[in-house]
Amino acid sequence: MDNTAAPHDIDVRSIRVRYGRALALDGVSLVAERGKVTAVIGANGAGKSTLLKAVMGLVPVSDGSVHVQGRETTNLETKAIVAGGTALVPEGRRLFGDLTVEENLKVGGYRHRKSGESTLGEVLALFPELEPKLRIRAEHLSGGQQQMVAIGRALMSRPDILLLDEPCAGLAPIVVQRIAGLFGQIAESGTTVVLIEQNATVALDVSHHCYVLETGKVVLDGPSGELRNNDFVSHAYLGI
Ligand SMILES: Nc1ncnc2c1ncn2[C@@H]1O[C@H](COP(=O)(O)OP(=O)(O)O)[C@@H](O)[C@H]1O
Ligand SMILES: [Mg+2]
Repeated sequence: MDNTAAPHDIDVRSIRVRYGRALALDGVSLVAERGKVTAVIGANGAGKSTLLKAVMGLVPVSDGSVHVQGRETTNLETKAIVAGGTALVPEGRRLFGDLTVEENLKVGGYRHRKSGESTLGEVLALFPELEPKLRIRAEHLSGGQQQMVAIGRALMSRPDILLLDEPCAGLAPIVVQRIAGLFGQIAESGTTVVLIEQNATVALDVSHHCYVLETGKVVLDGPSGELRNNDFVSHAYLGI
């Protein structure tokens, strides 16, 4: 083995995940590189959320392994995985509607001992539109602003790895552009980004590498620029 190469930040090796007798992931492998956006696209029910849940220790992995930054984390408690520097922005945002924006953001900072005004400042630099909303209850924000709070909350712990489960679902195209445009920026600042998207156009535009998941299996992966020109992807996912 070449021990001069840095390990992949995320290295999922041939995992299976079962819900009862149903096989939701059947031998899925994926790697994600530091400073890059890795996307996973696939239809509803393909297993995208299950893949992120497996990395977070939220569902049991029955075969294969998960490594994060060179350490095996297969079936570790979620708490330990979060403490190790991996954060998930779950599907559907899950904010505390009756807490203010600032309170929601600070909930995310607990992992980071020095988190506070300085990390809050970093998050607000990324989402300046939240600054005038800090004292407003999250339930009163627009969908796009709520998604910014959900992403900002995850970033408050200064994660090494950020997993996003369909962050653009249900948002207007102009808001999707604004939010999706930030993933590259977050990656460039040194965070490894794994982006789940049903909107393949958005996913391929903002990612470096992309995986296509179909009924629990990776059927294709490659540099996003190449996948955009791939006939199978064009027909099945881009509608062209
Ligand atoms: N908690 C669960 N119990 C049983 N089946 C589940 C559960 N969660 C997901 N599934 C099934 O596993 C498959 C993959 O689901 P999921 O990972 O949510 O897909 P995606 O995120 O791509 O829409 C689907 O067939 C779904 O119905
Ligand atoms: Mg899902």
